[in-house]
Amino acid sequence: MDKTILIATKNRYKIQEMAPILETYGYKLQPADLPKIEIQADTLQEIVAYAARHIPALDKPVIIEDAGLFVKALKGFPGPYSHYVYQTIGCKGILQLLQQATDRTAVFQSAIALKTPTGDTYIFTGETMGKITAEPRGTGGFGFDPIFQPQGTDKTYAEMTLQEKNLYSHRAKATKKLAEFLTAKS
Ligand code: IMP
Repeated sequence: MDKTILIATKNRYKIQEMAPILETYGYKLQPADLPKIEIQADTLQEIVAYAARHIPALDKPVIIEDAGLFVKALKGFPGPYSHYVYQTIGCKGILQLLQQATDRTAVFQSAIALKTPTGDTYIFTGETMGKITAEPRGTGGFGFDPIFQPQGTDKTYAEMTLQEKNLYSHRAKATKKLAEFLTAKS
């Protein structure tokens, strides 16, 4: 049986993180060249659900993943706007916004939409509590990894190996839910 899952992303880091998890369940993750459909919405679930509804059903399951960093002292900003905020003010800008903050709590969220060959869609989510560090630390990973330190460790995502990040990460949690769902369904 073909156990390929297509992913609509050009972000190689996301693929690097998700592929080994899916592989432990026997699935092979393959990038697919699909049009980027991204609406602005209040939740990641809405963003990926919309995209899943608007991509064509293919002969293999297709997934779309969206992530966001929700900072408590900023009332959840940048959240669903994380992509734009990373491109504009970046890690440095988030640190500046938090200069006076005493509460540096943040949550990283991931939402994955699955579109099956029959056209059904399902959503899986994962979240990781943590804090925004005082300074960027580490060189691994991507995006806000150097300033996000998950609960239960003194390392930022960027100071971790890929395997370590997968022990903590929002994306790993959502990916495992997806893999368990597909396994139970097959
Ligand atoms: P995207 O829309 O899912 O690509 O994510 C929005 C933004 O959040 C991206 O531009 C990244 O900068 C950031 N981001 C997403 N996932 C992660 C992660 O796992 N670590 C750090 N930053 C991330």
